[in-house]
Amino acid sequence: MYILGLESSCDETSAAIVEMAHGERRILANIIASQIDIHRLYGGVVPEIAGRAHIEAVSRITREALDVAKLQLSDIGLCAVTARPGLIGALLVGVNFGKSLAFANNIPLVGVDHVRGHIAAAYLEYPDLKPPFLGVVLSGGHTSFYVVKSYTEFEEIGSTRDDAAGEAFDKIGRVIGLPYPGGATLDRLAHEGNKKAYKLPSPALAGDTLDFSFSGLKTAALNLINTAAQKGEEIDRADLAASFTGVIADGFYKKLSAALDLTRLDTVVLAGGVSANSHLRAVASAVCEKKKARLCLPPLSLCGDNAAMIAAQGYYEYQNGAKDGTDLNASAV
Ligand code: KG4
Ligand code: ZN
Repeated sequence: MYILGLESSCDETSAAIVEMAHGERRILANIIASQIDIHRLYGGVVPEIAGRAHIEAVSRITREALDVAKLQLSDIGLCAVTARPGLIGALLVGVNFGKSLAFANNIPLVGVDHVRGHIAAAYLEYPDLKPPFLGVVLSGGHTSFYVVKSYTEFEEIGSTRDDAAGEAFDKIGRVIGLPYPGGATLDRLAHEGNKKAYKLPSPALAGDTLDFSFSGLKTAALNLINTAAQKGEEIDRADLAASFTGVIADGFYKKLSAALDLTRLDTVVLAGGVSANSHLRAVASAVCEKKKARLCLPPLSLCGDNAAMIAAQGYYEYQNGAKDGTDLNASAV
């Protein structure tokens, strides 16, 4: 079955065509129109501008996806569109476009949860991967551990109590003058610094919990930067990047180990934009090697927001009986 995936939850408009059949998963097209250059001017995503930019891009990139896949709309067996969570004005563009396209062309429609979509990116890379497994979503909006019980059943067993990991990386990146979004640049910079240079609090909450809190870490890093500025001292950006990344990596090591001990699952799937982070990928490899668990890492091209992952999850939702009508709505949460 050919599935058309549509994604517009934040600052990437994406249209993809994925072929899913028994054991077969093929990405025929995964077109991504990024708005990063537009939002960079403001140091973060401006929701109103995001919605408008999605409107301008969505038809063109859907056409492009069909052309790249060398398919017609009549070949598409399912339209899967991100319906939640995300920026409401941004989501509404994809949802309304998907609804119109599906109903005008008699294609079944299914609304997909973006976070589930991130996890489904792993099925595209590892065709033999099957639930149950431990799903770890690290993104600009989410930081959560899930027991993925089946393709469509998820139990959240830990999460951040405030900011997401990506938000924290982007915030510190911005304060030390890196272009938005700072995550990927901070990742590279951290390799050049000394992680012991600055003392920062761990984002892993103490005690018998798999939860994180990034706000204390963020505030501590901001105070350090401001205090240095007041004294007229220079912060070493590489050392700060390394120290900041270091406490996140150490906290992640602890919580991932604890999550595997608790669940006794033997497979870990890392997902979301922040799963591209080289330090966190290394931590996941080390934990999985120690615990003798299989680690499924999506390729970098499928870590960030893309519609191929939405198509993949849409396929499983549809197999499970989900089907949406013209009343499909978007939800911010
Ligand atoms: O999953 P995603 O594309 O969008 C959301 O669903 O939020 O994640 C975007 C986030 C941004 O915060 C970005 O800075 C971060 O992923 N990111 C990284 C890296 N690459 C992207 N964070 C840390 N290290 C990276 N290498
Ligand atoms: Zn995302």
